[in-house]
Amino acid sequence: MSDSYIQNLFAERIGGRQYGKSTAIYKFEKIKRAKRAALAAHPGAEIIDMGVGEPDEMAFPEVVAKLHEEARKPENRGYADNGDGVLKAAAARYLERVCGVGGINPETEVVHSIGSKAALSILPAALINPGDYVLMTTPGYPVFGTHAKYYGGLVHNLPLTEAGNFLPDLDGIPGDVLRKAKAVVINYPNNPTGASASPEFFAKVVDFARRNNVVVIHDAAYAALVFEGRPLSFLAAPGAKEVGIELHSTSKSFNMTGWRCGFVAGNELLVKAYGDVKDNTDSGQFLAIQHAAAYCLDHPEITEKIAAKYSRRMEALVEVLRGAGFNARKPRGSFFLYVDAPKVVTAKGGARREFRNAEEGSQWLITEKLISTVPWDDACACLRFSVTFAARDPADEKRVMAEIASRLGDVKFEF
Ligand SMILES: Cc1ncc(COP(=O)(O)O)c(C=O)c1O
Repeated sequence: MSDSYIQNLFAERIGGRQYGKSTAIYKFEKIKRAKRAALAAHPGAEIIDMGVGEPDEMAFPEVVAKLHEEARKPENRGYADNGDGVLKAAAARYLERVCGVGGINPETEVVHSIGSKAALSILPAALINPGDYVLMTTPGYPVFGTHAKYYGGLVHNLPLTEAGNFLPDLDGIPGDVLRKAKAVVINYPNNPTGASASPEFFAKVVDFARRNNVVVIHDAAYAALVFEGRPLSFLAAPGAKEVGIELHSTSKSFNMTGWRCGFVAGNELLVKAYGDVKDNTDSGQFLAIQHAAAYCLDHPEITEKIAAKYSRRMEALVEVLRGAGFNARKPRGSFFLYVDAPKVVTAKGGARREFRNAEEGSQWLITEKLISTVPWDDACACLRFSVTFAARDPADEKRVMAEIASRLGDVKFEF
């Protein structure tokens, strides 16, 4: 295709005149291609897909029924803008009942989102001027940083390592970065490490934010998916509401990724700024979806059932992977199991293959064993296994686990 004048019009932030011309293939595209190639090489074989970052099941039937009921109401048909009071009130109740965070004013301290991704893409417009820094954990979900860079901001990465319990080292940030930092973005339980925070860590984050005049954005997309105890909200930390906001989502907690609904809660001024930019960005999620999401927030037992499933799968996967030599340990929440990637694999016949990084290990797993994972080579060479693989019921899960054990049974990994 010859270049049209349009090629010369693209903004530098997406590559300018070079937009679309790069031949680099990104990680998730490589995984997709490897999956396709593996299927073509083994027609009809079962790919065990532990790469996906979304639930394998539908929203619960009662939630679908609620959507149906709400979609039939004429008053729900129009632009929702920043939402009516239904989801706001349910969010405040949810924070109190489920997370133990009282005192959230639904009118001034909650605004819905069309999913946390949308909120993370909107918030930088409210905060970031050219030259401002954002502190982002790595590996991690990059959306806030991507948009901050669109506005001329800079990203300072805070590596998450096993030695640091996958919590960022807030004391080691260079002074010149800290002086220009506007926001710190954290996410617990964490994607991809599966790590959880602690009340002590959140208290430290509040203190850090106060001392350095930065705002805290806690992406709580997996907060409700915990295997023991109650979900841990950043807003439960004393003083949190003075420094930050928390982003909740129905995507993972209620099997509703496609529905696009969540909420932002916390500091009134930040919530207002989010709402103002949001109002200039979208016209709100369909009220019927918001009301179905509100129903969910009043039914946390749905999440508890989902979390129990992931917990059961996690235990089985940890056992199978440990049997194959991986350093797997059950996380306290999320659906991600993060392990060191193997450095070498030796087949029964003695053929030996070395991996230079996690990506090569992941490619080998999909190509040779039809097991799909996501590699991360940011702070360590690690693989993310997601327990959202397709399985109909507990018996089917057992079958999948036995299948993984058998596929990995004829090789020896070195780490
Ligand atoms: C850490 C994290 N934040 C946010 C999102 C997006 O969530 P939502 O579906 O609410 O936009 C994801 C989705 O994978 C995620 O992993």
